[in-house]
Amino acid sequence: MRRSWLPVAFLWLGYTALLVALTKYVNILPVKWAEEAHVVDDAFLLLMYLGSPVMAIVLAVMTWGAIDWRSDGADREDGPNQHTNRVLVTTWLIVTSALAIYVVINPGFIGLTEIRGESSSDYAIEIEASQFFWEITYHNGATALDELVVPAEMRVRYDVNSTDVLHSFWIPAFRVKIDAVPGITTQVYSTATAEGTIDDDINLRIQCAELCGAGHATMSIPVRVVSDAEFNKYIESLGGSE
Ligand code: CUA
Repeated sequence: MRRSWLPVAFLWLGYTALLVALTKYVNILPVKWAEEAHVVDDAFLLLMYLGSPVMAIVLAVMTWGAIDWRSDGADREDGPNQHTNRVLVTTWLIVTSALAIYVVINPGFIGLTEIRGESSSDYAIEIEASQFFWEITYHNGATALDELVVPAEMRVRYDVNSTDVLHSFWIPAFRVKIDAVPGITTQVYSTATAEGTIDDDINLRIQCAELCGAGHATMSIPVRVVSDAEFNKYIESLGGSE
């Protein structure tokens, strides 16, 4: 079987190069409209790169297995027993364990600290989920049902809860997502990087991301990012009580 290792190694390198190239040059991620989106996408890409050689070795063994072990129609006896290759198994265990521990730390702990570690914010906005709508309450007490308006380049904290069942507050363009749970307030932060509306990109919207009933898919409202001055004008126009 020794002769099989060389082609498997070449296939492994080839598949790894292909997967790395696909990750690097084929962009499957939606538009990024917040600082948090960059942290999340970097984490996603890092995992794709680290996963590429792992997936490649599975593909390489499968491909070479299909070629080298194909049936020639003859009846065959079982071959000799295969014995564990201790060096290979030990190396595999060490490498995969090290990789697993590494991704728990980075992007795990480090990435989470970057997007949620700092607890200060410029504005706090209450998000209340119900079957099947979102109610937005701003710091002056003003409320809205038709859209979420946030100021650009400000760190916004969302205090999220639910009046009935589990929902999930998700703004795809911000890569911000947190469960909306009846009885508790969950928090998530975003810092929008530019002004914009859902007309610029469909991912500038709140979308419920937890199956919550028949109207789940319709639980979506636009997100509008405006200047700080415009934001204050907007919430005053809503007629807050503070
Ligand atoms: Cu609310 Cu799905």
